[in-house]
Amino acid sequence: MSDTLLSSAAGLRAGYSLPRQFYTSEAIFADDMREIITRKWILAGHVSQIPNAGDYVLFKVGQEQIILIRDTKNAVNAFFNVCRHRGSTLCSAEQGNARRLVCPYHAWTFGLDGALISARLMADDFDKADNGLFAAHVRVFHGLIFVNLSEDAPDDFDATFGEFDAILDYHGFADAKVAHIGRYPTAANWKLVVENFLECYHCQPAHPEFCSMHPAEALLAVGAGPSSGPNEAMESYGPVLAAWEEKAAAMGRPLGNVDDGPETSHLRLLMQRTMREGYISETADGLPASSLMGKRKDWDFGRMHLAFSPMSHIVADNDFAMLFRFTPRTAMTTDVDILWLVDGKAENYDVDKMIWGWDRTTLQDKTITEDNQTGILSHRYAPGRYSTQERGLETFQKWYLRHHGLTHQDAPAA
Ligand code: FES
Ligand SMILES: [Fe+2]
Repeated sequence: MSDTLLSSAAGLRAGYSLPRQFYTSEAIFADDMREIITRKWILAGHVSQIPNAGDYVLFKVGQEQIILIRDTKNAVNAFFNVCRHRGSTLCSAEQGNARRLVCPYHAWTFGLDGALISARLMADDFDKADNGLFAAHVRVFHGLIFVNLSEDAPDDFDATFGEFDAILDYHGFADAKVAHIGRYPTAANWKLVVENFLECYHCQPAHPEFCSMHPAEALLAVGAGPSSGPNEAMESYGPVLAAWEEKAAAMGRPLGNVDDGPETSHLRLLMQRTMREGYISETADGLPASSLMGKRKDWDFGRMHLAFSPMSHIVADNDFAMLFRFTPRTAMTTDVDILWLVDGKAENYDVDKMIWGWDRTTLQDKTITEDNQTGILSHRYAPGRYSTQERGLETFQKWYLRHHGLTHQDAPAA
């Protein structure tokens, strides 16, 4: 733990936003990377981005670059973009296709499985077998590519996410394809990006398009997860939700919500609910932008929000889905990317219609989150009290602090 983290803990208050340094300090960012980000399974992409042998994409986390590449045996591998000679990056393009990975510096050449194939003029005692590319843990689950940068054995993937098997199968993620990628690089600490996504207190003032597609009582009660709103808010939305669940279950949709607490490894979240009455999909007029995904036979007027961790979310409508990646890069920059997915066989999908809601919403989120960071940079910033619609932030904060061995008791009583 850095000295900055230790000294900043003195300003912690339960039910309040974090002290300034948690959102600004390079030292605390390094603590976050070491204790949290490099130890979690992170949603990095979808298999449809690299359909053929040799196809690769780069995925950048902090100062790490991971090459996600498909080999000749159809496996998806994840390698650190670091040459085993003197450390040059191997790939500079964000994506491409390569029969071999040839280092641009002195031309050491690696296979798609990471093995060193050739290195010129090396001494007799040099062993190529000891100089393959460093691999990251990688797992493909229903077409979704997850990486884990841990040097130790990572959390067991199936024990952590196996519960989502039936849901991901029903939505057809394995057979989906990427229809559009939106990039929203955000000048803010990763925790500000995450906190913004874990509350819907800001939805009404900041997101007119988003609010136009959803029932106000649903956004109040469960807009950012099963327990994100005030307890009493379910009184008006609960019966609507129960009636929809009955219909959706009769159509074969696997139901159920997940609401992990701060003691869990990945703080997973699953919320399935209705959209605004008459809305089939999250579009301007509520009509679909593509064909049905997955095992559905008909439209069920529902939508799903699933978080594999605070950094990795899915929102799925009946006809398209979005993968949200919130990837820390530096203390005050975060890559925010959305990958829009449609059914793999869909041909007549309307990208403009499909991205209308979440592209605008995410541009708005970029602005409000960057404004949040700018205000926090002021020395007059002080942690502020959370509302009853920001309960998810208290859970996230406890989860976050636990990874650093901190609790609110570490702070003196206010
Ligand atoms: S650094 Fe890659 S071949 Fe020298
Ligand atoms: Fe938002």
